[in-house]
Amino acid sequence: VPKRDWLEWHASYDEPGSRLSKRLAIVQGHVARFLDRAPADPIRVVSVCAGQGRDLLAVLAKHPRRPDVRARLVELDPRNAARARDAAAGLPGVEVLEADASLSDSYAGAVPAELVLVCGVFGNITEEDIARTVRYLPMLCARGATVIWTRHRNPPDQVPTICGWFEASGFAEVSVDSPEGESFAVGVHHYRGQPVDLEAGLRLFRFVEREELLRARASAGADGPLQG
Ligand SMILES: C[S@@+](CC[C@H](N)C(=O)[O-])C[C@H]1O[C@@H](n2cnc3c(N)ncnc32)[C@H](O)[C@@H]1O
Repeated sequence: VPKRDWLEWHASYDEPGSRLSKRLAIVQGHVARFLDRAPADPIRVVSVCAGQGRDLLAVLAKHPRRPDVRARLVELDPRNAARARDAAAGLPGVEVLEADASLSDSYAGAVPAELVLVCGVFGNITEEDIARTVRYLPMLCARGATVIWTRHRNPPDQVPTICGWFEASGFAEVSVDSPEGESFAVGVHHYRGQPVDLEAGLRLFRFVEREELLRARASAGADGPLQG
């Protein structure tokens, strides 16, 4: 079974009008609004499975709050981590950690964060792991933190269920954007619960290879292209 090429996956960000470039514009808009409104203190950001960091880094490079941002991007693929590092040149507060983002240990020293990015993750892990990840997200969140996340809406649309899991974990929904004719959602939630200490040695999720995930979906009575 061929493995997903996560460097190649990013190519469609460069195609104007592509689903991914539309999604990116929405995520970047949320990141920019978050930074515009962030209080004067230092701003901590973590990105789970950051890829090339396009959502955060392009916005940060042009934003007046960039000196206040301490960000940790966690990405496993060395080629994407290298791209992210290139994009972060000139942003001394950004650390790109080439590590397994599914392990709680990868966030030690970088959390609690005011902004947590979980983009391109929920389409690549099982429903059980989405629930588990959302349950553990408070460990990454400062009081009032903003979480920006994405998920495709192929049937069966799991977005309402995911919103329910966020609510059960102490988050309040701010927005869920799904542009007309597009089968993805960009969610924004605020953490309203109490701060939770980061627990060492936890595994939050396991990235499932495309074919394996499609098989699991098919046997659960669902199907459809995987969109990340
Ligand atoms: C669908 S892409 C999303 C990238 C980025 N968040 C975005 O939205 O542009 C998923 C990324 O997760 C990375 N990845 C897969 N498993 C990972 C893991 N266990 N830890 C960290 N990164 C992982 C892949 O290399 C890939 O870059």
